[in-house]
Amino acid sequence: MLKYSLLILMAFIAVSCEHRETPQLEYMPDMYRQLSVQAQEYDPISENGVAMRLPVEGTVPRGYEPYRYGFADTTQADAMPNPFQPTKEMLEAGKKYYMTYCVVCHGATGDGYGYIVPKFTQPPPLYSEKLMNWTDGRIFHTITIGQGLMPSYATQLPPKQRWAIIHYVRALQRAAHPTAEDLELAPKSGFTFEDDLPDTAVVPSEGSVK
Ligand code: HEC
Repeated sequence: MLKYSLLILMAFIAVSCEHRETPQLEYMPDMYRQLSVQAQEYDPISENGVAMRLPVEGTVPRGYEPYRYGFADTTQADAMPNPFQPTKEMLEAGKKYYMTYCVVCHGATGDGYGYIVPKFTQPPPLYSEKLMNWTDGRIFHTITIGQGLMPSYATQLPPKQRWAIIHYVRALQRAAHPTAEDLELAPKSGFTFEDDLPDTAVVPSEGSVK
């Protein structure tokens, strides 16, 4: 038995060592060599000879919502209502995404003193009168296509997450411009924005930012 095993092993070694770049023994070659054209091969039927076909023009991945507006289409942007209600879940989700994607520049309260400011240009506060008057659609527009130094967040954040962030930005605005009732309730909630900051974060004082 051992003798036969050795013989088979030696035969294997003998055939497999000859040409290393091509396999000498092909087990079930029908599976390995097929009539179908491989992705990187030449294809005589294809118009440009390339086997890989481009998707039909206008093709979008499943579940992807294309954004049709350009930077100047603010009227159309204004007409987009926030399709979600500011429920507790929505606000919590919005906070999570804000604290992941926006806080670095805009700061935990939206004041524009993010962790990378002032090395990075300080953004305007998110609770300015201008933004308080902006529609949710307009803020969505800005997050989707970017503005000035701020890049687009369309690839990082699907639409639902962007709408959630906008609800949270509205909460930041209300925190910055509290009503008399809010002021009365706030101390009872025990909430502080500082609790949200990672331990390493240094909040720059007003004076340190030019
Ligand atoms: C890399 C830093 C950076 C990040 C991250 C960032 N922004 Fe901005 N954002 C800016 C800067 C800078 C501006 C000012 C752009 C300009 O008008 O030139 C700005 C402007 C804005 C404006 C318009 C403000 C105005 O008064 O015109 C909104 C709204 C906004 N950002 C929301 C967000 C939201 C929401 C996120 C998270 C999804 C975010 N930004 C992430 C830097 C950033």
